[in-house]
Amino acid sequence: MPRSLLVQITLASFIVSACALPAAPPTPAPPPASAPSASTPEPAEPKAPAAKPEKLTVLCTPQEDWCQAMTKAFQEQFGIQTSYIRLSSGEALAKLRATKDNPEFSVWWGGPVDTYVAASTEDLLEPYVSPNAAEIPSEYKDPNGLWTGVYVGALGFCSNREALSKLGVEKPDSWEDLLDPKLKGQVAMAHPASSGTAYTAVWTQVTRLGSVDAAFDYLKKLHQNILQYTKSGSAPGQMAGRGEVAVSVIFSHDCVKFADEGMNMLEVSFPAEGTGYEIGGVALIKGAPEPEAAKMWIDWVLTASAQEIGPTVKSYQLPTNPNAKVSERSVKLSEIKLVNYDFQEAGKNRKAITKRFEDEITTAPQ
Ligand code: G6P
Repeated sequence: MPRSLLVQITLASFIVSACALPAAPPTPAPPPASAPSASTPEPAEPKAPAAKPEKLTVLCTPQEDWCQAMTKAFQEQFGIQTSYIRLSSGEALAKLRATKDNPEFSVWWGGPVDTYVAASTEDLLEPYVSPNAAEIPSEYKDPNGLWTGVYVGALGFCSNREALSKLGVEKPDSWEDLLDPKLKGQVAMAHPASSGTAYTAVWTQVTRLGSVDAAFDYLKKLHQNILQYTKSGSAPGQMAGRGEVAVSVIFSHDCVKFADEGMNMLEVSFPAEGTGYEIGGVALIKGAPEPEAAKMWIDWVLTASAQEIGPTVKSYQLPTNPNAKVSERSVKLSEIKLVNYDFQEAGKNRKAITKRFEDEITTAPQ
């Protein structure tokens, strides 16, 4: 679809959504001509068109370079001065909680929707169903319009082939492989409280093993091989890229990104038992200071052209808009086994699970 047509649709959808603002009170019908001349109501002043939004502040969770590329493109296309702050999922949730009465941000873009579900249970998000959401498959949308999916990523192992070879360890293709005593101090993942990537890894254990207790039994064993729990989800992949660990648990597209950016010892593999995946979300923040600009952002990030920006900065998450071109560097979900990941359940349990992780795992002796 030519870009100009797309822009017209997007702008039209914005105009439509602007018109969808709460209707002005109905103008009283004029009295029938024959009626005695009651005081004829003055015609309602024509409403000035909604002023064009001037600025937007985005809470951005994916990689900085992607946040930059997206906000720059939006600003150039719509003439709205757009800035962002990059925070990992758990940090973003904490920020929304802390600024609930005086929100700093108007829209949240990126990061797994588990944390969006957690935010919605705390009444931190505002429902908004973009006209462009009609193009997004239902499995990538919250039924109540609290979030809409903008990308998909699969969790994987991102390993340093040189480090593995020195340890005499094969590239892992099972969650059990990460428990190999030869990998002591050689595995890294983020902390699930701060990172949506790591929370996806934790909830993947609950799903594949069938219970929270079974998951924590596994995580206690894995803890024996963990060198460090980082704050940001993709940082373990950079640790592996620098040879600080042999194996990291991150989204596979981040491993491909780091390899493409020069960490050429990195290789991706997936657990045969099944792996978790993310739907990266976008949502309107409750009490947004710039609600109209935020809705324009949401309308835009759902378009195919906006979802084709990622690969220009080596962000190979899969687009949710079926009309968006898919990079050949992106994961092919049909070639890996995914667990039946329940985003609502994961989100509702995020607070309890991350607290139990802090209490039982991070402080356990190694
Ligand atoms: C990286 C990935 C994204 C993911 C994000 C989550 O940026 O590329 O696909 O959504 O991490 O961030 P977090 O720091 O919360 O794990």
